[in-house]
Amino acid sequence: MSHIKTAVFPVAGMGTRFLPITKSVPKEMLPLIDKPLIQYAVEEARAAGIENFVFVSSPEKPALDDYFRTNYRLENYLASRGSTDALRQVQDVTLKPDTYWITHQIEARGLGHAVWTGRAFLRNEPFAVLLPDDFIHSDRPAIGQMIDMHARIGGNMVASMDVGRDRISSYGCLDVEARAGRCLSAGLIVEKPSAAQAPSTHAVIGRYILQPSVLEHLENAAPGVKGEIQLTDAIAADSAKNELWGYEFEGKRYDCGSKVGFVEATIALAMQREDLSSELSLNTSRTAGFSMVA
Ligand code: UTP
Repeated sequence: MSHIKTAVFPVAGMGTRFLPITKSVPKEMLPLIDKPLIQYAVEEARAAGIENFVFVSSPEKPALDDYFRTNYRLENYLASRGSTDALRQVQDVTLKPDTYWITHQIEARGLGHAVWTGRAFLRNEPFAVLLPDDFIHSDRPAIGQMIDMHARIGGNMVASMDVGRDRISSYGCLDVEARAGRCLSAGLIVEKPSAAQAPSTHAVIGRYILQPSVLEHLENAAPGVKGEIQLTDAIAADSAKNELWGYEFEGKRYDCGSKVGFVEATIALAMQREDLSSELSLNTSRTAGFSMVA
């Protein structure tokens, strides 16, 4: 039984790095093979025992609601044709109406503001936050690993990995004071520091377990880096009350907010899928040298 029952999925961003497709298809609905990014994040949360799903979306993105809602027309069609496998797939991704909520961040004012927008659906207890564009492939769900550790040590916990000094300025960054196994005790968290000023190369990755008091700091938060209300600033402010932990999860993370990361994730997943890998390997060897010929 997980002590974390609710997860927030902030998906109201503009997805500008994926234009032009994100003009009409939201980034979180882009498919890794045959499932949208958001589905992988929901599955990760579900596998970790999370029961309530709060999506902070925007009014311009009806696709998310369409995806998680029952599609009676499609279900009837598949049932009438006896397509039981397809029907099961469709039903599996449908969420029960009393387990999920979609709320809207009208203006993309930053990740912190998006999380705060979901506050009405959060009880006075710790909650998880998952950013679907950080796709983490692992045997044990990354958020589940964090939940297990959080049950033992509490506080605010962020997923972390070493991204090196050349990339740290794109991330939140932890000032690590001590380490115990995969747990990093952090004194400070700063958003997008310059490479020269970064206190470490331990970056924050899109999985969080947060205390409800973080929402109080978001309530009055001033815009930070890039003029956005930053979640890291509120976590930093809360560190007077709650200890801050980085957790180095087991698994491989793909930055699906970037085109390169998205393509890498697609290839890695495809090569691990029984229904695709052998045919893909065959086709790849057949077309080897294609670029030289073309
Ligand atoms: P990103 O920083 O990747 O921003 O957001 P983005 O708008 O999605 O993409 P780019 O940079 O323009 O290409 C990380 C996560 O936070 C959400 C995004 O939807 C994504 O899941 N987010 C970001 C919000 O929900 N609201 C915001 O105001 C900003």
